[in-house]
Amino acid sequence: MELKEAIFSRRSIRKFKPDPVPGEHIYEMLEAARLAPSGSNLQPFRFVVIRSEKAREQLASATLKFVTEAPVVIACCTDLTAMDGRKERMKELAESGAFTGATMGKVNPADYADRWKDSNAIPAYLNLNTAIAIEHLILRATDLGLGTCWVMLFKQKEIKDLLDLGEQYAVVALIPVGYPDQDPGPRPRLPMEQILLKEI
Ligand SMILES: Cc1cc2nc3c(=O)[nH]c(=O)nc-3n(C[C@H](O)[C@H](O)[C@H](O)COP(=O)(O)O)c2cc1C
Repeated sequence: MELKEAIFSRRSIRKFKPDPVPGEHIYEMLEAARLAPSGSNLQPFRFVVIRSEKAREQLASATLKFVTEAPVVIACCTDLTAMDGRKERMKELAESGAFTGATMGKVNPADYADRWKDSNAIPAYLNLNTAIAIEHLILRATDLGLGTCWVMLFKQKEIKDLLDLGEQYAVVALIPVGYPDQDPGPRPRLPMEQILLKEI
């Protein structure tokens, strides 16, 4: 499937067939997430693949029912400590030649220091990077004929307890995965004139 077709045909799927999802497909989806870009190459995204019927049933009290009815649920998380590895990631990036030959100008880190002063700024930034990886995963799922849905309506603490995730992790989204048992048309979107503010 062409990327354009995946983008055009993806829908939020909320009804799944019980058919099992091959493990290789889940691996392919995680691989697409792993290759996602991230700021300073921090790669803060982490995943828990929930296949067991028991675990999926336990999710029921903490999220929407249809999520638990999918044969697989992927809990997409952020490692909130990822910023600690920034120096190492930047070193790797530089060593891989990422900036070689690029016109970077003079970068004075002090000019950008304000960026992290708000205590919410770092988790928000890390979660943004996780979101990019999630969308990679979702588009690859579409490519493989699988249905998914972004779900952010869940109880953070309950899900974390259930998955035995430590303090350093935040769950960003639950993604139910399975073969679609519905074929919805495109959902409404704002017109181009509204999202394109200007061309200058
Ligand atoms: C960040 C994000 C959070 C979402 N959370 C939920 C959710 O909790 N429950 C749900 O049923 N759908 C959720 N959705 C799906 C949206 O409702 C859906 O993407 C939107 O209505 C457009 O439909 P489409 O995805 O089929 O194009 C979420 C989507 C995104 C991107």
